Amino acid sequence: MLLPRHCGKWLCIIIATCFAINAAEKFVLSTEKTINLRSDDGNIAVYDKAMPEWLTNSTEQLFTEGSRWLYQHPDKLANVVQRGEEKLDWSAPLSPDFFMKTRLWIVMKRLMIGFTGFNDYMAYQVQGMMLRRGDSPTVVKGEMASHDIVCRIFLSSGNTSNSEMMFYNRKGEVMQPVQKKFGRVVLWNATLDYSMKQPGFQTFKTEYSLLIKLSRDTKKLQQELEYIKKVRDHENHQKMANFPTYNEKGNQYTNEFFEKHLTRKFYSRNGGVISYFDGILNETELTTLRSYLITHNTAYSNSGFSTAEDDDGDNVSWIAMFLPESLNNTRMLDLVKGMARYLSGEDDWYPYDVSLNMIQGTFHTRIHEDCENYEHEYTFLLYLNPNWTADMYGETIFLDQIQDMKYDKKGQVIQEKAYETIVSVKPKYGRMAMFRNIIPHSARPPSPDFHGTRYTFAVKVSRNKIIGLSKILRELLEFKSGSNDEGGKLFVNLEEMAASFSYTMPEGVLLENIKKYREAKKEVMNQIRDYPVHSILRKKFIGENQPTI
Ligand SMILES: [Fe+2]
Repeated sequence: MLLPRHCGKWLCIIIATCFAINAAEKFVLSTEKTINLRSDDGNIAVYDKAMPEWLTNSTEQLFTEGSRWLYQHPDKLANVVQRGEEKLDWSAPLSPDFFMKTRLWIVMKRLMIGFTGFNDYMAYQVQGMMLRRGDSPTVVKGEMASHDIVCRIFLSSGNTSNSEMMFYNRKGEVMQPVQKKFGRVVLWNATLDYSMKQPGFQTFKTEYSLLIKLSRDTKKLQQELEYIKKVRDHENHQKMANFPTYNEKGNQYTNEFFEKHLTRKFYSRNGGVISYFDGILNETELTTLRSYLITHNTAYSNSGFSTAEDDDGDNVSWIAMFLPESLNNTRMLDLVKGMARYLSGEDDWYPYDVSLNMIQGTFHTRIHEDCENYEHEYTFLLYLNPNWTADMYGETIFLDQIQDMKYDKKGQVIQEKAYETIVSVKPKYGRMAMFRNIIPHSARPPSPDFHGTRYTFAVKVSRNKIIGLSKILRELLEFKSGSNDEGGKLFVNLEEMAASFSYTMPEGVLLENIKKYREAKKEVMNQIRDYPVHSILRKKFIGENQPTI
């Protein structure tokens, strides 16, 4: 799982706000309605004072920092089925059992009694939802004669995104628009049609909300619990599954083999190579690999994206990370190492970063380099979308930087970076690219007409095992950057070693520290994830071993 960019910030908030949460245990609930619309088609009630702000904040954190989301865009090859009437790609299902132990349920229950006159409604389906500019949520059709209730809690403010939630009557006319105000709770009869409007063009940020379906029918709750169990079983099964080896092994990837499959080769102005190859894996091998990769982490982490002008990251928000050692004894590793050998003439390449990158039309990808100037590395890419056509865009573009940033004495920019394009690689299914990763490059987002995800499997390799392990440890320790403890000092030490090409740390010490800091990072991740969980749980359930998402 990825470490959220602002984990340090959240750890500070955890400490700083624990007093506020204890004090807020006695929050006062108001059932005052901002909108109270009653009609023959169904009723709508909007509450603005029902949730204390800390509870909304904690609920938002549950879904934004360290939380796991399911990508559910339909994909026949990988047997992915879209769930939910709104037809949104991402959802974070929450167990209704867990939800009904939270303080949110206290709020809901009070509102429900006022709205329906009954006190035996149960939350049978609870999901975190996200909506971005470029998503296409559909109008959800109401269920005739249903006694169910639906609830939405807005966890982001729509005031600045120029969008709203819309209710329709049976004639298809707008019945009531509702602003997406932070902390606002909306209840309506499930008989009504509604739609969540996507944010306006000027909006970069993602809008989060919580969708809760309520019923007096216990069968619905049972069905949802079975679904949640299925999702978890699938996740556990995929975690245990090994990387496909294609049941064949052996270093069959000679230089002649790559020569035969090479489609084109280019060089940057600095002599760095960019190459791509076709026809290496057959249809069956590709399908096996693709199905494994895109369902391996059915729960992805969102690392967000940066809008800062001087950021040098790739801005890929959704990545499924694999341990580099998961490639051990696979033909994929032979292939990647062989390709690097063919291009470089060196034979000791070692993978330090293995991932599946997901890029959607709504993304804000950036031009970036994968390594530092003093590093000598290659990046391997495998494109994993069948039937890709030119009008779906999504190329990988490679550039020469012909001009750097310049600043005046006051630190004001007087010259921007400038680039010239070297080559643009179409992400054809099964195509493999390999390049010196100091060359500036960027993935182009797919066309707005393409509603799925552009998948690339990426492996970055270092010059030998010691350099590779040092890089794994250095990247692992980034969360310690700036700290003065043992991990922080080790991070600085590793940076200095890389910059001076003096890799003095023995393999055993590197492996030992990788193990140690993987555990430490997992612990930090758990703390970040557990904080909002503990905040929203009712006191008597805190400490229960209750799975959340
Ligand atoms: Fe990159």
